[in-house]
Amino acid sequence: MKMAITGKGGVGKTTFSAIMSRIYAEEGYNVLAVDADPDPNLALALGFPQELIDEIVPISEMKKLVAERTNSTPGSFGKMFKINPKVDDIPERYCKEHYGVRLLTMGTVDTGGTGCICPENVLLKKLTSHLILQNKDIVIMDMEAGIEHLGRGTAQGVDVFIVVVEPGIRSIQTYKHVKKLAKDLGIEKVFVVANKVKNEEDEKYVLENIDTDVCLGFIHYRETVGSSDRVNKSPYDCSNETVQEIKKIKEKLEMGVF
Ligand SMILES: Nc1ncnc2c1ncn2[C@@H]1O[C@H](COP(=O)(O)OP(=O)(O)OP(=O)(O)O)[C@@H](O)[C@H]1O
Ligand SMILES: [Mg+2]
Repeated sequence: MKMAITGKGGVGKTTFSAIMSRIYAEEGYNVLAVDADPDPNLALALGFPQELIDEIVPISEMKKLVAERTNSTPGSFGKMFKINPKVDDIPERYCKEHYGVRLLTMGTVDTGGTGCICPENVLLKKLTSHLILQNKDIVIMDMEAGIEHLGRGTAQGVDVFIVVVEPGIRSIQTYKHVKKLAKDLGIEKVFVVANKVKNEEDEKYVLENIDTDVCLGFIHYRETVGSSDRVNKSPYDCSNETVQEIKKIKEKLEMGVF
């Protein structure tokens, strides 16, 4: 199963991705959690120890690796380089593992525009495509809101897009945007998880504003989840109720996807 988690900023993508990864790992699956957010913090949410977090270098910042794989010289914008770099050994070699979750931090390329063809981007794109199309693990990608940069072939290899929303029109707007992008890429499997829900009113609000059959479930707002961030712990280890809610979502997801 390859899933991509998207949604508006701050809705709970990382929290959801981390708990989902820990649940699958707990069940004995090979889990590869992919931090594809330009501002990576999935390691923290997974509860990785600080020493391990300190060792993380995003793939895009591994200058030697980028140069070696793409046959380019660092900073060589506009020069010739390989557009089909070798990536199959990267997940194994450069991931960090804890609690049975392997984490790959992708990083970002600051280009001031999407779709730039530079060695870093080419490597990230090829790597993402490899993770989704060839890798055998459960892949859980914590992404930013856009899915444009995935590319048609790669996007079609994703089993499910999960858009996290909260009860409010802005994040639901983002869902609609992602749904449209997905449709343009020929993808129908876009589901919603509503997070930070406080009461029935909130649940009703979400259901009224999305297609009800795409809603995988609700995650309630809990102080313990919010404060896990402040005490540097994984929300997985702070709120059993939240973990149970996400287990239910996972069951529903598995029924819907297969
Ligand atoms: N169910 C919840 N109850 C309470 N607080 C929550 C809940 N889910 C997430 N939060 C808190 O909301 C904040 C944002 O969550 P998170 O980092 O998971 O969102 P995100 O979508 O990944 O954000 P970003 O767009 O910045 O990457 C965090 O402080 C998190 O602890
Ligand atoms: Mg995040």
